[in-house]
Amino acid sequence: MNISVNAKGIEPIELASRDELQALQLQRLQWTLRHAYDNVAHYRAKFDQAGVHPDDLKSLADLAKFPFTTKDDLRQTYPFGMFAVPMRDIVRVHASSGTTGKPTVVGYTERDISTWAGLMARSLRAAGATADDIILNSYGYGLFTGGLGAHYGGERLGAAVIPMSGGQTERQVQLIQDFKPTVLLSTPSYSLTIADELTRQNVKPGGTSLRIGLFGAEPWTNEMRREIEARLGIDAVDIYGLSEVMGPGVACECVETKDGPHIWEDHFYAEIVDSLTGKPLPDGEEGELVFTSLTKEALPIIRYRTRDLTRLMPGSARNMRRMGKITGRSDDMLIIRGVNLFPTQIEEILLRNTSLCAQYQLQVSRDGNLDKLDVFVELQPDLSDQTEREQREAIGRDVAHHIKSMIGVSATVHVVATDTIERTIVGKAKRVIDKRTS
Ligand code: DLL
Repeated sequence: MNISVNAKGIEPIELASRDELQALQLQRLQWTLRHAYDNVAHYRAKFDQAGVHPDDLKSLADLAKFPFTTKDDLRQTYPFGMFAVPMRDIVRVHASSGTTGKPTVVGYTERDISTWAGLMARSLRAAGATADDIILNSYGYGLFTGGLGAHYGGERLGAAVIPMSGGQTERQVQLIQDFKPTVLLSTPSYSLTIADELTRQNVKPGGTSLRIGLFGAEPWTNEMRREIEARLGIDAVDIYGLSEVMGPGVACECVETKDGPHIWEDHFYAEIVDSLTGKPLPDGEEGELVFTSLTKEALPIIRYRTRDLTRLMPGSARNMRRMGKITGRSDDMLIIRGVNLFPTQIEEILLRNTSLCAQYQLQVSRDGNLDKLDVFVELQPDLSDQTEREQREAIGRDVAHHIKSMIGVSATVHVVATDTIERTIVGKAKRVIDKRTS
């Protein structure tokens, strides 16, 4: 499937008017609801129970009458009960790691895989990549959607893809030196592990062939973006996605603006809802992101509660709306001595101190009846050996003061040397160890 793009690598639909886009969304949404109702017993039962029928959708706003879908629906129908096509038409299956309960399983038809490759290629183009690039794909291959999803997008773009997967950091660095990739795809935290290894091998920032990175699969702040850009000498662009909705490439930032991922609204309908009441909120207000697929055949997903907290913003470099940085997941929120806290809030404060880097971990424990928060954070690698204990303690006290005054939580901040905090080499960074629950 060849998609026509203009000289800047933009598809016409990315610049369509809101009216044109919404007309397309309405038509696709009507198809999706009917497809789900006719072919998935679970959806039919849920719609019937809520007293709604696909014919009730006359405008986009009518979608609010339809029931939400959650991870629990996928678990109840494990493994293939939400598929809307016979197994014969499924060509790929992915699954979540399933650390809690059964994994969630997702499936794709041949056309779904093609749509995904097209949207991932669009994401790469938004990030500034072209067919001339060499892509080091360090997202994990396997049941996780990151590796294969990004891989097919790179090929669709016409770039050369190195299917490295996660892990083996020394080998990643060797390939960077030898194959001279220009684009890095990895989690933001893993890009810093690669940067550490480059520093160990005395390679200067900007001293590699890399020029762009597309980072996602876990929350990261603009402060972390600045650190990655400085350490690797690249443009760091935010890419968002989730397996239930497709995988990587549901939304992606444009390199020229770096102002939040544009949601590819010709294929996904986004809403923000109040995470407690489920009521839709207007653009600009922070709440839980909810997605409905518009073209998916194998697994139509209706009003999926992502648990990701963010807001919707108008288009900028493209006409499609943007999402803000994910500030946290509603199920990642820590409550410490009654104060609500997301790890990204701590990340923002830590990285305002230029001596510190984005390798950090929060440990929560119980001290008698009181919650105790310990923050472990590493020094920048080049400062690690030269910073005396007294200096480290002073930095820790200063950061703890900012945490207290900005968030209202007392924390002990331990400033430690490079490589003290365990790295997540494959998969998503583990930012929180909550010993209260274990
Ligand atoms: O993480 C898909 C992906 C792969 C996206 C590679 C981007 C790059 P899941 O494993 O299903 O899929 O996890 C989805 O990860 O609900 C968010 O909580 C989080 N997430 C994904 N992208 C971002 C991002 C992949 N750019 C869950 N910023 C989502 C913040 C993100 N969180």
